[in-house]
Amino acid sequence: METKVISISREDAEDSGLKEAAEILRRGGLVAFPTETVYGLGANALDEQASSKIYAAKGRPSDNPLIAHIADIADLPPLVAEIPEAGRRLMEAYWPGPLTMIFRKSSLVPRTTTGGLDTVAVRMPDDAIAGRLIRLAGVPVAAPSANMSGRPSPTRADHVYQDMNGRIEMIIDGGPVGIGVESTIVDVTGNVPVLLRPGAVTVEMLRSTVGEVEIDPAISGPVKPDMKPKAPGMKYRHYAPRAELTLVEDREYTGKAVSRRVVDTICSLAADCMAGGRRAGIICTDETKDCYPREAEIRSLGRRSQEETIAHNLFGVLREFDSLGVDEIYSESFSGENLGRAIMNRLTKAAGYRIKKV
Ligand code: TXA
Ligand code: MG
Repeated sequence: METKVISISREDAEDSGLKEAAEILRRGGLVAFPTETVYGLGANALDEQASSKIYAAKGRPSDNPLIAHIADIADLPPLVAEIPEAGRRLMEAYWPGPLTMIFRKSSLVPRTTTGGLDTVAVRMPDDAIAGRLIRLAGVPVAAPSANMSGRPSPTRADHVYQDMNGRIEMIIDGGPVGIGVESTIVDVTGNVPVLLRPGAVTVEMLRSTVGEVEIDPAISGPVKPDMKPKAPGMKYRHYAPRAELTLVEDREYTGKAVSRRVVDTICSLAADCMAGGRRAGIICTDETKDCYPREAEIRSLGRRSQEETIAHNLFGVLREFDSLGVDEIYSESFSGENLGRAIMNRLTKAAGYRIKKV
């Protein structure tokens, strides 16, 4: 299959390329498109055959459900059995935006889209291209991140092209995304909302809107074989670079500066790696980037205090290390609060929970 790539600017009112993309979606094809979080791989969420093509194109296990993307709050009621009060308050506060909510599904939504579950994940993205595309398609658009299963999520159209060229009909290039980590996921089907995946709508923000919010244990630790995480995707090794990644964490990290201990440990791990003839990659911050051995591939995610920049650059750096072919990656760690919770969740998963505490 030939994959067509079209470029669209957010300011462009002319929708001819988007009309073609919407037509592909309506007849059951696959189109990758930008959102404010990461690029999505879209299909008609109400068409079983279309959404099963997503699993095939990504190599995704069929029990890992998809998120249905809508363009207006009015598109929600047909997809769900009920809208709980907490869900209503959260959507008023954060839609359109990087928040996905889990509802009990209506009979309209096929189980292929929900990975066999009775619930459906819904999100209304805050991106002009995504919004126009969904509106033109006239159907909810099922869209996981547009990467091959197990690879870091794509934050630019060329990342999508690396993984999906020849597998899907079209890629809409809308330039780099804004946020860079996937949406926050909250299950609102129970008495107390439960955070299933941290993102740019932080748990601190959720609590300020609805009070109590629980945090699913699968977020912070490895999922044990007998544990059934509420978001099935959490049990798979996600965001994984090809090299082995080790996260180095200071036991007494204050959330501000990285300690000398962390820098020294990464230096010696990288030196050992390179002494064995292997290539080392280092993930650090502007404050420390000059402290590491020059023979290593050193990538700064930005200034430590700028969590938005760090989140924005993270997946791109993991992909860059893949194309450089480094053998080992050592990364500084970050605070686990606010957006830092999402950054650390992605990093610890990428590291397969290999954390060296110093
Ligand atoms: O930011 C995002 O959410 C991006 C963009 C494209 O919108 N999409 C995204 O989709 O990250 P995906 O498929 O890569 O991640 C969706 C996650 C998976 O971990 C999946 O298991 C979980 O959401 N999920 C989907 N439906 C669910 C449901 N009904 N119950 C629990 N978890 C669900
Ligand atoms: Mg994904």
